[in-house]
Amino acid sequence: MICVASDAEALAAAAAERFAAEAGRATAARGRFLVLLAGGETPRRLYRLLAEEPWRSSIPWHRTFFFWGDERCVPPEDPRSNRRMVTDTLLDRLTLSPDQRYPIPCDLPPQLAAEAYQDELLRFFGTDPPRFDLVLLGLGEDGHTASLFPGSDALKERHRWTAVTRRPEEPFDRITLTAPVLSRGRLIMFLVSGAAKARIVAQLLENEGTPFPARLIVPAEGELLWLLDREAAALLKGPIAAVSGDELC
Ligand code: 6PG
Repeated sequence: MICVASDAEALAAAAAERFAAEAGRATAARGRFLVLLAGGETPRRLYRLLAEEPWRSSIPWHRTFFFWGDERCVPPEDPRSNRRMVTDTLLDRLTLSPDQRYPIPCDLPPQLAAEAYQDELLRFFGTDPPRFDLVLLGLGEDGHTASLFPGSDALKERHRWTAVTRRPEEPFDRITLTAPVLSRGRLIMFLVSGAAKARIVAQLLENEGTPFPARLIVPAEGELLWLLDREAAALLKGPIAAVSGDELC
């Protein structure tokens, strides 16, 4: 399903609404809510909103567990760190216990960090590949999602849950969860905002032939939701399932 919100603020509000609904559903069904977090600018707004009322007091945070979909191999206090971004915008504003946060351990060398995170997931989920209640993802102008970049060997990964990747223009490696794990999410929610994304959004959602990394995210059994703002949706020609304006998708 594709939902279009009027602007970036409305997109964040729609995402917060779905986040809260999924938290309620997951805790009622299984006693806990397992969230996979995205980096990037678009979810930053969502995280800030979730730290405010009404979400701050209505979401069952004490039963919510946070994991990261990808990370830049930089020190945890580096402003480019996804761990730091979510910590500053959301996690440090909530009352959580240490066992609710599972950041990717980028204080280790990249290959060891990828292996350590896979082991961490194994300890938490057991031997079946992780199944998150909510997988948050973004979309790059080149069609990347998480840290799955065009041309990367990680795109071919079918068995491992984590991989080391690199974006040629960056001076550091990244760790990413692989497409088969991301695809197992119960709800996979892409958040895409801004005119710079309009072309890739149209190519990805309306032209089945284009082999972008984001196309590898194919829900195994879950739901796939594209939450766009009007600028990001501007080049879509086909009918859009819901044009929300300020209503929520
Ligand atoms: C990251 C990401 C990455 C991001 C996209 C879109 O850590 O940067 O996980 O995949 O989601 O690049 O980013 P924006 O929301 O900033 O456009």
